[in-house]
Amino acid sequence: MDFPFPVTEVVEGRARLLVPDVPRRKGPGTKGPWPFYNPTMAVNRDLSALALARWPVKPARVLDGLAATGAWGIRMGLEAGVPDLGFADLSPDAAALIRANLERNGLRGEVFHGDLRKRLSESPYDYLDIDPFGPPTPFLGHALHAARTPSGIGITATDTAPLAGTYPTACQRRYVAHPLRCEQGHEIGLRILLGYVERVAQAHGKLAKPLLAFSAEHFFRIHVLVLDGLREAGPEAGYYLRDREGVFQRVDPRVHDAIGPLWTGPLGDSGFIRSLSPSDWTSPAGARLLDALQHEADLPPFFVTTDELARRLRASPPRLGRFLDALRALGFRAERTHFHPRGVKTDAPHEDVLRAFLETAPSGPTGG
Ligand SMILES: C[S@@+](CC[C@H](N)C(=O)[O-])C[C@H]1O[C@@H](n2cnc3c(N)ncnc32)[C@H](O)[C@@H]1O
Repeated sequence: MDFPFPVTEVVEGRARLLVPDVPRRKGPGTKGPWPFYNPTMAVNRDLSALALARWPVKPARVLDGLAATGAWGIRMGLEAGVPDLGFADLSPDAAALIRANLERNGLRGEVFHGDLRKRLSESPYDYLDIDPFGPPTPFLGHALHAARTPSGIGITATDTAPLAGTYPTACQRRYVAHPLRCEQGHEIGLRILLGYVERVAQAHGKLAKPLLAFSAEHFFRIHVLVLDGLREAGPEAGYYLRDREGVFQRVDPRVHDAIGPLWTGPLGDSGFIRSLSPSDWTSPAGARLLDALQHEADLPPFFVTTDELARRLRASPPRLGRFLDALRALGFRAERTHFHPRGVKTDAPHEDVLRAFLETAPSGPTGG
């Protein structure tokens, strides 16, 4: 088949995909007049394939809502064994490429060329993927209105700069939430996204239960199970202040500069996350991310970094492994976090965090 742009074949996971043969750089990827494909997002699709293979209500039909080359849906067919694949994209070139990619991978699927929001009102599915350019907000109302219960939704947000506090006004406008630019900014951003999705779900009389949520590369990703019901005004939507010690304190929404509203509950279902294991098609980066998420599942919100503790205590940062061991020796749980290369999530009170830090900080001028 001829396309009005050059194409090349890439192998991603178990799929062989024809994609536009255009220059690429690492990171967010550039929007162009051809269907979008970004190999950096393979880790996102890796974890989707693992999650869908173990999804609590096995999805018979998935909709790759903003499909571009069809990479996501095709991998779900090949790696998660989803039998009925649907694809939607506004672009006619994307629709043609998806059809060619289905054929190339020996799969069948229904390709809809048009606006996802229209498709959602016409066709039920068990799992919907929303992977837009930038914020997912334009699609969430339609998605949660149309969602059957139970069903799944996977949502990617690449507008991490607003969500993580670099552009607070844009975050306020899009997510009606106040972020904070700080070392924990990405966790705050992910929690703002989850909180927003939950509020939209509630507006449609549904619950969005996070099964898996993470930050990677230049994007946030959440997988929620949509259920019937209204959440009692409870502990899972809240506001925080970050005090002068860098400790997060839960506060009333009326407090000036309160961070939130954000999701304060678990970032996933630890039993579900620990049930996932890498497949033969998972990339090394995907397997490393999964391992980190499995270790930190269940630990409370937020984390400390040895950089920040070192600055505050005017000490050299200890090796992360020694700091973790010291916290564990004091009887607490402590794990590295995927949010920050020198971050530690722990259930230790702040005094014990400081004690473990000072016990392990090298006395010389440098740490490891
Ligand atoms: C970031 S790309 C999707 C990448 C793709 N999911 C992947 O895994 O490679 C976003 C896609 O959404 C499509 N799109 C944008 N607005 C849309 C809409 N309202 N309905 C359907 N498709 C849309 C664009 O044409 C583009 O192909």
